[in-house]
Amino acid sequence: MSRFKLRKKKNSPNSFQSSMENSTANQLPASQKKAPTRKYRPSLRKRTMRNPAKKNSAFDQLFSGLMGNTANTDKYTNYTTTYGEVTEQGIRKMSEIFQKYCPLKGVPIENRTFFDLGCGVGKAVIGMAILHPELRACGIEIVEERIQFARQAQSRIKNKNIMNRVAFYEGSFLDPKYRYTSTCWLYMSNLCFNEETQQQLLSKFAAELPQHAVVICSKELNGADKKGFVLKERINIPMTWNEQHVVNIYQKV
Ligand SMILES: C[S@@+](CC[C@H](N)C(=O)[O-])C[C@H]1O[C@@H](n2cnc3c(N)ncnc32)[C@H](O)[C@@H]1O
Repeated sequence: MSRFKLRKKKNSPNSFQSSMENSTANQLPASQKKAPTRKYRPSLRKRTMRNPAKKNSAFDQLFSGLMGNTANTDKYTNYTTTYGEVTEQGIRKMSEIFQKYCPLKGVPIENRTFFDLGCGVGKAVIGMAILHPELRACGIEIVEERIQFARQAQSRIKNKNIMNRVAFYEGSFLDPKYRYTSTCWLYMSNLCFNEETQQQLLSKFAAELPQHAVVICSKELNGADKKGFVLKERINIPMTWNEQHVVNIYQKV
């Protein structure tokens, strides 16, 4: 147990760096420094090979340099533009939940659309398009710079089939020009939306979403049961600010 802990600590970048800085070998003149022994080398190589791969997946690379939290939000005073993202693992988990309650094979082709309302730089949208070849994946975002980043990430997708099933719209998700009549899966990270916005969204969903559509959202939708939605369950989905973030799963009945 203690051996395992010790090893883990050595592998972490910070402790590795500080052990290098404090080591006696580092204080010796270059000529006297010992080269690592043969035994030691392979394990070091293994570590350096493993970590970058883990931290920088092909999916992450699509978003390299595209940070939603650095976008200028000064002019959007009527909106809550607080930023945070669902993680890659969280996108997979959401996809499983959508499939569990509303399997795509049972949805008419024209309704196989996923929407992320307030999509940021578009991670959930692109992730869903990659995971489900039969799905159109759309995102709406009010902050211009975030939508530009999302489109930039989209343009980096090499597979044209995936790229063409993705669409990003700049504007408010409450704008009547956006209708969710052919949407079977909908996600919104609504923790910061005010109650008025929540109720407007709920009315829109009640009027427009097809029967059996599934909505995943962070904050509860008050009165959803009276507008034709059933709360199916609450689960943890990893987000950038909380590994165990609780989300609500609603289904239109
Ligand atoms: C917490 S972030 C979520 C980003 C992304 N959905 C995710 O989970 O990875 C919420 C986003 O909603 C956007 N937003 C807030 N109000 C909006 C509105 N009325 N219309 C469109 N986007 C909005 C914010 O600018 C912000 O980028």
